[in-house]
Amino acid sequence: MNKGLINPGELVDISVNLGGVKMKNPVAVASGTFGYGREYEDFINLSSIGAIIVKGTTLEVRNGNKPPRVAETPAGMLNAIGLENPGIDKFLTEYLPYLNQKGATVIANIAGNTIEEYAAIASRIESCQGIAAIEMNISCPNVKQGGLQFGTNPETVMRVVAAVKSETSLPVIPKLSPNVTDIVEIAKAAEAGGADALAMINTLLGMAVDIKKRQPVLGNIFGGLSGPAIKPVALRMIYQVYKEVKLPILGGGGIMNYQDALEFIMVGATAVSIGTGNFVNPHIAGDVAQGIQQYMEENHIKNINELVGIAVK
Ligand SMILES: Cc1cc2nc3c(=O)[nH]c(=O)nc-3n(C[C@H](O)[C@H](O)[C@H](O)COP(=O)(O)O)c2cc1C
Repeated sequence: MNKGLINPGELVDISVNLGGVKMKNPVAVASGTFGYGREYEDFINLSSIGAIIVKGTTLEVRNGNKPPRVAETPAGMLNAIGLENPGIDKFLTEYLPYLNQKGATVIANIAGNTIEEYAAIASRIESCQGIAAIEMNISCPNVKQGGLQFGTNPETVMRVVAAVKSETSLPVIPKLSPNVTDIVEIAKAAEAGGADALAMINTLLGMAVDIKKRQPVLGNIFGGLSGPAIKPVALRMIYQVYKEVKLPILGGGGIMNYQDALEFIMVGATAVSIGTGNFVNPHIAGDVAQGIQQYMEENHIKNINELVGIAVK
C-alpha cells in the first residue's frame, strides 16, 4: 500500500474507467430510478454524477404493467413497472439533448423482446452523439424461441451481447440477473460475447400478498426486489465474478451510503450504481462520492483503484 500514501492536503483520485467509460467518480445512478435526470435537477448537479444510467428504453413505446406496480417490503421494495418508456427515438431526440446540455455522462439502458430488437436499438444509438455506453438489460424479457429469459441462459447471453457489439463502437455493459444458479457461468458468457464491463445485479424476483384482499399486491403478481435487502446477495455475486472474470464490474444492489459503496468496491466493483437509494435521498449519489473521497483521504489512499477487490481472498 506504500504507493498509495498521500500527504495531508494532497488530492485523491476517485475517477475510474469502466470498460472505456471515463467516470469522474465511481458513483452512477441506476436505470429506472432516476428517470431521464430532469426529475432530479433541483436536488443534484447532474454533471457531478459519475454516470446517469437512464430509464430502460425499447425500440417502440411501452405502456408497462397494470398497477399496483410497486410495494414496500422490509429493507427494500418490489417493482413491476414493465419497462414503461417512450421508445428509443423519443429518448434520443427529446431526453438525451437535455442531459447532454447539462453536461451529464449518460449511459443508455436498452431492452428488447428479441436479439434483433437489441441490435436495432444499438444501431439507432450508434448514429447519435452524447452517449458514453450501452447498458443491456438482459434480466427480464423473453426470446422468440423457447420463451427463455435472456439473462438466465448462457448461450443466449453470449448471442445477444455479440449482436449488440456488432452494431456499436460504444462500450457494452450487460446487466446480469441474480435469478440464476451460477452467476459466474453467465458472466463468462457475457465476456465471450464481447462485453466491455458487467453491471450487477438487477433485482431479485419476489412477490407480496395483500391478506385483506387475499391476492397478490402487484398487478403483475411478481416483481423485482431491490434495496438494502439484496445487498448481501449482490456482494456475494460480485465477489464470485471478480475472481473468475477479468471485466470491470459496475456493482450495485442496496447501496444506501458510502460505506455500502466501499463494500462493493472492495469485493471487486470498479464503480457502483445506486437505485432505490435515490428515492430516499435524491442527492445520495453526490453524498456517496464525497464519502468515498473522505474515506480515502483519512486512510491515505491516493487512487480508488487500489481498493478494487482488496477484500477478495
Ligand atoms: C422502480 C425501479 C425501476 C427499475 N427499472 C429498471 C430498468 O428500466 N432497467 C434496468 O436495467 N433496471 C431497472 N431497475 C433495477 C435498478 O436499476 C437496480 O439494478 C436495482 O434496483 C438494484 O439496485 P438498488 O437496490 O440500488 O435499487 C429498476 C429498479 C426500480 C426500483
